[in-house]
Amino acid sequence: MKRKIGIGLIGLGTVGTGVAKIISSPNGRNPLVSQLELKRVAVRDIQKTRAVDIDSSIITNDPLEVVNDPSIQVVVEVMGGIELARKIILKSIESGKSVVTANKAVIARHGNEIANAAHSAGVYVLIEAAVGGGIPIIEPLKQSLGGNRIKKVTGIINGTTNYILSRMSKENADYKELLKEAQQLGYAESDPSADVDGVDAADKIAILSSLAFGGTVERELIPTKGISNLQNRDVEYAKKLGYEVKLLALAESISKKNSSEKSLALSLRVQPTLLPTDHPLAGVNGVNNAIVIEGDPIGEVMFYGPGAGAGPTASAVVADILNIAGVKLMGEGNIHLDPLLSASSWRECFLAEPKEIMQKNYIRLITKDTPGVIGQIGKIFGDHQVSIESIVQFDASDAGAEIVVITHKVNQEEMSEALLSITKLPEVQDLAAHLGCL
Ligand code: NAP
Ligand code: HSE
Repeated sequence: MKRKIGIGLIGLGTVGTGVAKIISSPNGRNPLVSQLELKRVAVRDIQKTRAVDIDSSIITNDPLEVVNDPSIQVVVEVMGGIELARKIILKSIESGKSVVTANKAVIARHGNEIANAAHSAGVYVLIEAAVGGGIPIIEPLKQSLGGNRIKKVTGIINGTTNYILSRMSKENADYKELLKEAQQLGYAESDPSADVDGVDAADKIAILSSLAFGGTVERELIPTKGISNLQNRDVEYAKKLGYEVKLLALAESISKKNSSEKSLALSLRVQPTLLPTDHPLAGVNGVNNAIVIEGDPIGEVMFYGPGAGAGPTASAVVADILNIAGVKLMGEGNIHLDPLLSASSWRECFLAEPKEIMQKNYIRLITKDTPGVIGQIGKIFGDHQVSIESIVQFDASDAGAEIVVITHKVNQEEMSEALLSITKLPEVQDLAAHLGCL
């Protein structure tokens, strides 16, 4: 009889259900799937009707029953949250079990602690599903691109917001309705503010950055702007100017005198960003995600696919389970994968200051419709070395005018100072939008 690998599933929501469905229907898949056995499942509410057939005797509402079950070799944490998830992952590691998790919130904040614990215990913690849903991106960054000097990671890495923004762009649809749809489709986090406020994308870029650049930055310091205040008119104006608006996450190394092999300045940020319509990321629509990695010597490589939802995420979770199962079934002997991020934390990384970050900007100002306003705005930008690519007045009426400015790449400290002076002009009523631009 074939040896089985005992799996403990913590969470049977969108992702957990997808995982259970794959494990319970191995036909036509990799033969290793038939060697996985779901031994125990933890949920919050054991009375809830489930979308997958699971023997009720293996369901518990105590995650520690899963962790402490001696027949389980791999704990799959797809419950979400931070503190309890951290405790469960560490406890599993302490019990000698390997862990697969889709939880970017916990890895972005406690990845180093978890990696070190896994390394000491000689178990695996694999996180492919934590970024990009079904897109293989973690393993490529950890392994396939390992020989490169990475310069930049640019990604659309939140499915919920990309779903919303694509529909806003195509149909001018209502933001709140679209968010409700994304929740019904299983794309959104249990608290969807993590999606629309950019927190989820910031967690994910923190993880990608640590793999790409070999060190972590302080998670809470990553400048993060979401789409909850984005207005349909900015999407509309962007289109008129030849751009699409996407929630972009970026991590790039910044050349600095004090950057070195051991210490690297990075710019990480999450913000709604205008992309020229011919940019490869501008055509990434719906729940799809895409990540462009720029490295030396590879040049640019792009990863694309479904970024959220039960099936795609479960596909990544099960791939990680199979990697661990394969090693266990061969007999662990001397075979040793690098647990999680441990191999990647080999240098100190720190966030560059705004004056070291150069980017293009999209600005929308509400002003009085009086002569000379554009001239005054232009003068202030000029005084701060902010060079303007285009300036357009939309919608002049008794109520005022809307002035949209696109800058060239400029120093972000000067940009903020210029905007502060501009908003003090008596003719300027509001800085209605400030987005990034590629
Ligand atoms: P979900 O649908 O809300 O499911 C969460 C599951 O965890 C539910 O089954 C819930 O039980 C269970 N749970 C919550 N608290 C628990 C507790 N204290 N003890 C035991 N069980 C508990 O969430 P999800 O969308 O599947 O996401 C799960 C994780 O995957 C999150 O970390 C998320 O960020 C990540 N992720 C999600 C996606 C996606 O597309 N949804 C993609 C990538 C990564 P009940 O069913 O009884 O409520
Ligand atoms: N809520 C996340 C998203 C799930 O919409 O991208 C995938 O990580």
